[in-house]
Amino acid sequence: MLDDLEIREATLEDLPEITSIFRDTIRAVNSRDYSEKQIEAWSSGADDTEVWEDRITNLYFIVAEYKNEIVGFAHVKKGCHLDGLYVHKNYQRRTIGSKLLRIVESHIMAEGYEIINADASITAVDFFDSHYFDQIKKQKKSYKGMGFASSIFSKEL
Ligand SMILES: CC(C)(COP(=O)(O)OP(=O)(O)OC[C@H]1O[C@@H](n2cnc3c(N)ncnc32)[C@H](O)[C@@H]1OP(=O)(O)O)[C@@H](O)C(=O)NCCC(=O)NCCS
Repeated sequence: MLDDLEIREATLEDLPEITSIFRDTIRAVNSRDYSEKQIEAWSSGADDTEVWEDRITNLYFIVAEYKNEIVGFAHVKKGCHLDGLYVHKNYQRRTIGSKLLRIVESHIMAEGYEIINADASITAVDFFDSHYFDQIKKQKKSYKGMGFASSIFSKEL
């Protein structure tokens, strides 16, 4: 749908755009499934600069860029665990999430894994369903002192 979309590995220079997407997408998109307090706590993770620097430096971390603007990102930890996937609030449902996921899956396969796991927010359940993931279990995750309903998803590659 977005012909000029480029997907590349993130650099530390991308950090401000990445954290803006994280904050704004949680506030605009995930807010339909979580309370105001949960959204405030979750989105405040955007301010944890050292955590983001560590992710960008040490994880497989990719960004989707459209006309010189970052419009989504994804990161993978422990080899085959999709640790985060966020699309800019103004670019939802334009296939960016699917494209990021496809590159992540190719990377995980190239690393020799035959499975991908993801810890998904309630908001993303339909997205993972549409990509043939199995919902393994529902859980409550603790983050910044609050509980968050989420689901573990898995798919054989
Ligand atoms: C989940 C997310 C990454 C999906 O990205 P996206 O670019 O909007 O997704 P796509 O356009 O590739 O969607 C592909 C398919 O997934 C399904 N899907 C995606 N979002 C959906 C929604 N809100 N409701 C129902 N189905 C949805 C649809 O089948 C869609 O295909 P369609 O648009 O042709 O019907 C994005 O909505 C997002 O940033 N969510 C907030 C952050 C989040 O919760 N991330 C999850 C990991 S913590």
